[in-house]
Amino acid sequence: MSEKRESMHGQWSNRWAFILAATGSAVGLGNIWKFPYITGENGGGAFVLIYLLCIAVIGIPIMMAEIMLGRRGRRSPINTMMHLAQESKVSATWKLLGVAGVIAGFLILSYYSVIAGWAVAYFFRSISSVFVGVTADGVATIFNDLVSDPERLLAWHTLFIVMTMVIVARGVRGGLEKAVRFLMPSLFVLLVILVGYAMNTDYFLKGLSFLFTPDFSKITANGVLIAMGHAFFTLSLGMGAIMVYGSYLPKSTSIAKASILIAMADTMVALMAGMAIFPIVFANDLAPGAGPGLIFQTLPIAFGHMPGGTFFGTLFFLLLVFAAWSSAISLIEPMVAWLVENRGMSRVKASVWSGFVTWLIGIGTIFSFNIWGGEEYQLFGKTFFDLLDYLTANIMLPLGGLFIAIFAAWRMTRSDVIDELKINENMFKLWFFLVRYITPVAVIIVFLNAIGIV
Ligand code: PHE
Repeated sequence: MSEKRESMHGQWSNRWAFILAATGSAVGLGNIWKFPYITGENGGGAFVLIYLLCIAVIGIPIMMAEIMLGRRGRRSPINTMMHLAQESKVSATWKLLGVAGVIAGFLILSYYSVIAGWAVAYFFRSISSVFVGVTADGVATIFNDLVSDPERLLAWHTLFIVMTMVIVARGVRGGLEKAVRFLMPSLFVLLVILVGYAMNTDYFLKGLSFLFTPDFSKITANGVLIAMGHAFFTLSLGMGAIMVYGSYLPKSTSIAKASILIAMADTMVALMAGMAIFPIVFANDLAPGAGPGLIFQTLPIAFGHMPGGTFFGTLFFLLLVFAAWSSAISLIEPMVAWLVENRGMSRVKASVWSGFVTWLIGIGTIFSFNIWGGEEYQLFGKTFFDLLDYLTANIMLPLGGLFIAIFAAWRMTRSDVIDELKINENMFKLWFFLVRYITPVAVIIVFLNAIGIV
């Protein structure tokens, strides 16, 4: 038994509150903005298949491990790792896993907020009926006008950071718990409506076959790394977000069931976003590999032509902002919890500081789409934003996940793990086998493969 029954930051009111908050963290821009465009860039079906495999074999077991560590540690990820290392009598350097997670959270939020800002901007475009009857060229112009203007991007980025910090300052349990309860289901309903629209485009089957017919000649070693990285990113794994949420989890909740539910909901949302977007891409002769602007250059076409489009479009972008919001909060929570624990700061002060630093780094991403867009500002052919995204999603999160697996399956006392997970014998054996052997080996092979060694 861990001696500390409850985190100093409080606890979720019940298990559904945790499941909703963790789903809120998982479902976000990763599902609706990122998944479609990286799928488009990496050729479709084969990429999706590898991504699904990574969710099942790597994602769910790591999620269980990460929640388990959080609940047992009952502190911010840095202190949780220190405490668990002590409990298991292993080196205290394991706290670096928490430190790396905090850094990853900062870096991710810095660009996440910029993209969330685009969604806020599109909410206002939609409500002012800008999309009515719009053409494919029209949406491209609207998008380019937005991203080429650093001042506008900065304004939206600032607004989104402030929104995030307000909630974080009040504590994740307060507003967040209630908000997620109806936002997630509404987002789902809107996605159903969008898929319904896509079904009527004559290109629905083409979209489906792009998503679900694997053509392995289209996938590269780097594509496999991106698929795996995205499995971590979309489930919020490898940086402590899910760990810190786990630290607020009551003892009685089944970690295995919660993880499976969260992963399933997350995957459904991503696949539905893909099913909504690709038919529109093909129907309008757009490029699936258009990059980060993909949803902003496709969905407005649907809203511009469907009955009630202004209403649905406005609602959609509003919900997208909320989905991003509930993810953003979890990205910074490990940092804020640590500042409160170790620096004795109030939540408000901790939020303001972390928000400010994140905001500052975000400016690099803003410039990546305009004044730093040129080749002279690129490294390895990547902009600041591309580099940050690559470094965090494809390197830091999988590495974090790898070490979480190693810690849970090789460093912790087996009886402690069993005590915390409380699953039946066979389930435990399966999980243990996956986390002990399959996950670490898979992550390492994908890494080596991507740098050309295997
Ligand atoms: N899972 C979130 C998304 O898909 C992003 C995220 C990553 C949140 C890592 C927290 C931690 O949008």
